[in-house]
Amino acid sequence: MKATAKANANIALIKYWGKRDEALILPYNSSISMTCDAMETITTVEFSENYDTDTAIINDEELSSDQKRVYDHIGMIRKMAGIKEKAKIVSESNFPLAAGLASSASGFAALTVAAVAAAGLKLPEKELSIIARQGSGSACRSILGGFVEWKKGSKSSDSYAEQIAGKDYWKDFRMIATIVKEGRKAISSRSGMSQTVKNSPYYSGWLSSIEEDLNRMREAIRSRDFASAGSIAEYNALKMHCTMMTSKPPIMYWKPATVEIMNAVMAWREDLESYFTMDAGPNVKVMCMKKDEKELCQRLSELEGVVKTISCAPGSGAALSQKHLFD
Ligand code: PMV
Repeated sequence: MKATAKANANIALIKYWGKRDEALILPYNSSISMTCDAMETITTVEFSENYDTDTAIINDEELSSDQKRVYDHIGMIRKMAGIKEKAKIVSESNFPLAAGLASSASGFAALTVAAVAAAGLKLPEKELSIIARQGSGSACRSILGGFVEWKKGSKSSDSYAEQIAGKDYWKDFRMIATIVKEGRKAISSRSGMSQTVKNSPYYSGWLSSIEEDLNRMREAIRSRDFASAGSIAEYNALKMHCTMMTSKPPIMYWKPATVEIMNAVMAWREDLESYFTMDAGPNVKVMCMKKDEKELCQRLSELEGVVKTISCAPGSGAALSQKHLFD
C-alpha cells in the first residue's frame, strides 16, 4: 500500500535541549514551537512485496543503509502494523536540510504519517506524535499546526505534542528563517545535546529556569502578546546556546553572519520590533508581526552574510495528500 503525507517544519520558541532517554527520545524539558507554513516536506511511502530491501531517496539522493534513523523508523512502524513488506520512501523538502532549520522535524513527521497510513494503520494525532518523536524529538511537534507544546511526560506514552492555539489564532505572527552563507552544521543536534547534558556546568541552570519560560510563553501566546513572546523566545535561545558553548569541547554553531543578524535585530528594535532565535546551526530565525514583515525581510537581505529569507506564518499540522511522489 502507498501513502503520501505533507508536514511543515516547526521552530521552537522554548527549546528542547537534552534527552533523559536517548533510545526513546524522552526530553529533560517540555518545549513550545510554531509550525511554519512555508517550510514543507512531502514524503511517499510504499510497502510492497516487489521490494527486496528498504530504500529511501531524500531530495534526489539515496540514503545508504548506515543512515539508520529512517530505516529504523520504518522498521518500527512495520512491526506495529504486523506486516513484512519492504518499503520504498521518496521525500522532498523545499528548504535546506541539516542546517538547523528543523528539517528532521518535518521529515520525520511526514514519514510517520505516510508510513502509518501505507502500513494500513489509522492512529490518532497523539499516537502519531509519539511515533514521530522516536525518529527525531522535534518531529512530534510538527504533527500539529499553529502553536504547539511537547509535554516531556513521565514515560513514552505521555510524552507527545498538543496544540496550544490553532494556526488562525495568531495569524499575524511571522517567523523569518534567515539563511546564511555557511551551509550544513558541523555537529548534529543529537550529539550536541548529549555532550551538553554530560558536561556543561550551566545545564542545571537551563533546566531550573525552563518552567518559568514555558509558563510565560503559554500565556504570551494565549494573549497574543508579541513583545513578551519574542523576548522570552530570544532569551531562551541564548540560554540554550550558552549551555552548548560551555560544554567540553565547546559547541559553537554561530558563524560571523549569525552574530551580524543578532546584532542587527537588536539595533533595529528601536523602530522595528523583532526578536531572534537560533537552533543547532548557523541560521537565524527572526520573529516579527505581519505589518513589519516586508521591511524586515528587506533589511535582512541587505546584510552581508545573508543568502535568503523564508518568511513563515503559523502553518497546518501534518496531513495525508493524494499526490504521490512516484507511481
Ligand atoms: O529533534 P532534533 O534532534 O532535531 O533537535 C532539535 C533541537 C533544537 O532544534 C535545537 C531545539 C528544538 O526544540 O527544536
